[in-house]
Amino acid sequence: MFKPGLSPSPTRLLALAGLTATMLLAGAACAGDTTPAQQLGRFSAQAGAPGNADQGKAFFNTRHGGEWSCSSCHGNPPVKTGQHASTGKEIAPLAPAFNANAFTDSARVDKWFRRNCKDVLRRECSAAEKADVLAWLISLKP
Ligand code: HEC
Repeated sequence: MFKPGLSPSPTRLLALAGLTATMLLAGAACAGDTTPAQQLGRFSAQAGAPGNADQGKAFFNTRHGGEWSCSSCHGNPPVKTGQHASTGKEIAPLAPAFNANAFTDSARVDKWFRRNCKDVLRRECSAAEKADVLAWLISLKP
């Protein structure tokens, strides 16, 4: 006699496997290898000085010879969803207190600092500039 639910059907097994895969993928996508405080420590150590939040604020909101400042895309202060200055694409808030994912993946931090600094300054940001910006971002609270 057929008893539904006693043995796992192939469909249910597939669904389970799918769920597990989704959970693994989601875990990998938001798996952080670092924290905002650790990143601040890293840049401060490279710069040989702790980040200065006031300098970071000025740096972030000023244009450096080009068309854009950091705030052109990230907003000022960067505590809300920003909008890309040319594509209009949404950008998650940069200040860690407003975005649990910000500064939790060192490869992503390096990648975007490199790319965005080149857009704004036509060069990479120095470790001191990164420490300053991050010190300011961490100081922004709800
Ligand atoms: C032309 C638009 C644009 C400008 C200008 C810009 N950014 Fe960004 N930035 C982005 C985008 C897009 C992302 C990716 C955000 C996302 O995935 O939601 C990003 C991400 C970042 C991240 C990664 C944060 C994280 O851990 O997720 C950092 C750090 C950052 N920007 C710093 C800066 C700094 C510093 C400046 C000024 C020197 C700057 N950005 C200027 C578009 C910009």
